[in-house]
Amino acid sequence: MALPYKHFEAIEKHAGLLAVLIAVMVSLGGLAEITPLFIKAHTVEAAPGIEPYDALRLAGKDVYVREGCHVCHSQMIRTLRFETQRYGDYSVASESVYDRPFQWGSKRTGPDLARVGGKYSDEWQRLHLLKPQQVVPESNMPAYPWLQDEVIDGEDIQARMRALRFLGDPYTDQDIEGAPAAVADKTELDALIAYLQGLGAKNVPAAAKEGAP
Ligand code: HEC
Repeated sequence: MALPYKHFEAIEKHAGLLAVLIAVMVSLGGLAEITPLFIKAHTVEAAPGIEPYDALRLAGKDVYVREGCHVCHSQMIRTLRFETQRYGDYSVASESVYDRPFQWGSKRTGPDLARVGGKYSDEWQRLHLLKPQQVVPESNMPAYPWLQDEVIDGEDIQARMRALRFLGDPYTDQDIEGAPAAVADKTELDALIAYLQGLGAKNVPAAAKEGAP
């Protein structure tokens, strides 16, 4: 049923009322667009072979975030030929379900790291992080020498794993109990290398080719 003309007139002649009604309509439109995305985010499941980070890699991921590696490195290979030729199979959402926060990014001062795992030896990674110019003379990546002096705190990692389990990551009691032993005497440098070496190392994109999200 259409509104009588006098109602439109009342709305159009009162800027305040018009503004309120516009705000209501825009909010409704916004909700209609955003709500399905929240639901969809929970429907993305881990691709086969993708498991929650073990204790050492989880510690490494936190170092990665803390040091701001994401400021220069993305972790998302796009579905473009020149990207897949350079970096490997394109990234899919089901690969990053255990990344909180996700590290996709778009700023690439350095190369994408989504599939850097296994590309170099641990020793190369160690030299590179301590002083990139040792292995890539023209590099403008900063050095991170302090990472070799800081030891990982096992109890801290346990607490993080419990928090992640609370959020839904499937850590078992054994995973959490074993965490301090898994990171014992490991430095932040060891943890970061373990994290990097695991990036994209599993062959996930078969899922992408089957049309999964
Ligand atoms: C100021 C920008 C910048 C920051 C911050 C930065 N990088 Fe880099 N990174 C680069 C550049 C440029 C290269 C390419 C030259 C080279 O290999 O050193 C690179 C290369 C790399 C590579 C080799 C990639 C490949 O495929 O060859 C890895 C691994 C890497 N960075 C890891 C890290 C990690 C881990 C951090 C954080 C601790 C970090 N980077 C922080 C700029 C940066």
